[in-house]
Amino acid sequence: MSQTFNPSDIAMLRTDKRASLTETVQRWKSDGDSVALVPTMGALHEGHLSLVRLALKAADRCVVSIFVNPTQFAPHEDFDSYPRDISADLQLLQSAGVDLVYTPDEADMYPSGKDSAIKAGAAAKGLETDFRPHFFDGVVNVVHRLFDHAQPDLAVFGEKDYQQLMVIDEMVQAQSLPIEITGAPIARDAHGLALSSRNAYLSAEELEIARMLNQALYKAAQDIQGGADADAACDEASALLLNCGFDKVDYVSYKPEWNRVLIAAHIGKTRLIDNAPTTPST
Ligand code: PAF
Repeated sequence: MSQTFNPSDIAMLRTDKRASLTETVQRWKSDGDSVALVPTMGALHEGHLSLVRLALKAADRCVVSIFVNPTQFAPHEDFDSYPRDISADLQLLQSAGVDLVYTPDEADMYPSGKDSAIKAGAAAKGLETDFRPHFFDGVVNVVHRLFDHAQPDLAVFGEKDYQQLMVIDEMVQAQSLPIEITGAPIARDAHGLALSSRNAYLSAEELEIARMLNQALYKAAQDIQGGADADAACDEASALLLNCGFDKVDYVSYKPEWNRVLIAAHIGKTRLIDNAPTTPST
């Protein structure tokens, strides 16, 4: 469903039409406004709103896209059950002051098939790719299309998906796209758990366990910062998670080139990821 474009009628516009999006953004740009894009898969929470706030600070106009991208899910993953609540999302975005919400469907995003010549580069090696080999090719495929449709000046992605941020940044450079990629700090709940749409899957008991993730992560990051052996610190974090109720740890890994410890672990059917810097915060 598409709304008629009359900016004076409503504060926030929504469209599922690529041509309307492109035309609106071009109009803003020719008026001299800079435009930021915040790509999302919906099920929005405070973490997404922090990306929107950053986008609105950095640019005159903010576009948010909502599209649950099938190409980044493997057949056994949670594409069908991924949380979707478009009216709640639109209300949140309206109150956050977003200018335009782009809600394409699969036919708009993949009109001639889901294959893409755009492939994830070196930053995709290891970590997530060891467990979700399809994931980053799917992400760069859809993000490249979203960039093509919106043609923003800048785009904001959360640092929670740190490897994704690195992969997208690398893709933008490899394709020489004139888009600045900005990472937004991780939004956490009062217990330090990184906000994620998938947290909605957690039972009350699992939520208690999930809160150990950032404790194990920060201990490893601080130990490494203090000179501890990185492999030993990561192994210790992994053992701690299994002891306190995580069912499986995919990885706890130190990436010196990113100054980060990155972590992925499962509780029940929920897979959580997080990361922390190993450099002192300034
Ligand atoms: O981080 C996400 O929500 C998704 O991977 C993204 C970047 C919107 C691409 O579908």
